[in-house]
Amino acid sequence: MNDTMLLNVTGKTALADGIYQFEFRSPDGKPLPPFTAGAHVLIETPSGIGRRYSLCNAPSERDRYVVAVKLDPGSRGGSVSMINDVKVGMRIRVSVPENYFALTDDASDYLLVAGGIGITPIHAMMAELDARAARYRLVYCTRSPETTAFLAELSSLPSSRVQIHHDYGNSDQSLDFAKLLATREGNTHLYCCGPRPLMQAVRNNASGWPSLAVHFEDFGTSVSNGEASSGFTVTLQRSGIRVNVAAGQSILEAVREAGVETPSSCEAGTCGACRTTLCSGEADHRDFVLDDDEHDRAIMICVSRAKSDELVIDL
Ligand code: FES
Repeated sequence: MNDTMLLNVTGKTALADGIYQFEFRSPDGKPLPPFTAGAHVLIETPSGIGRRYSLCNAPSERDRYVVAVKLDPGSRGGSVSMINDVKVGMRIRVSVPENYFALTDDASDYLLVAGGIGITPIHAMMAELDARAARYRLVYCTRSPETTAFLAELSSLPSSRVQIHHDYGNSDQSLDFAKLLATREGNTHLYCCGPRPLMQAVRNNASGWPSLAVHFEDFGTSVSNGEASSGFTVTLQRSGIRVNVAAGQSILEAVREAGVETPSSCEAGTCGACRTTLCSGEADHRDFVLDDDEHDRAIMICVSRAKSDELVIDL
């Protein structure tokens, strides 16, 4: 964990079906380290598993951190432990906030696209953009009203500012992202957080947007990075090492196990820190950083895998 603090759990509230909000405050009542919208903290759950959660309260609130957690019974237990084991009055270890999903200062407009629990960093962004008196619009996709966090608050905002779309679990009723992203007004920046299929749909339909104007985040929204597929081999050209990447293991993990240090940050395919030159082999790209025309020469080793039996990378 990065620098951490022991914080008091001062609130636990049901926000929607299977979604709980947690509030943390300093035991001595002092202000917490500042954060900007889009930041996350790493929380050590009572089960011992660490999980990253986006902060969803206004960055101007210096006295508390608020996160929202969706119960995912299929996960390795982080969300289950948060929701079942964390009680008001407990002390929990929380890291200082980090931000790989920060709002730019120079956009003319902001288009915020959230799917499910991906609303959490977007909720903080709305507060920050309100404080800046910036122009923004939220498009929020959820399964149903019952599973929609912040429903009453967001429903009370004008429809020109907030559009909530329910698909009722039916892909035929998914939002029309081609229509939403067909045109880009002025210097609009797009911020998207949600399940991988939603982010992929946004990515595919924003192909006409400059890549620097499209930003993704997926902490807490994706249980896995898609199918783990089978194992494969990666040769590290400069180190002269071959590593076997097991099914369910990332290239980054396998490389580190082999004793080779390489940078990373989000480990979710959204920040670009683990970008590595791809020397040969065909990658199965699962990130939200690389453009199509970079796919044959670069790879994000925290999430991407191999279509060929072997990859050669420049490490
Ligand atoms: S560590 Fe962020 S994209 Fe790989």
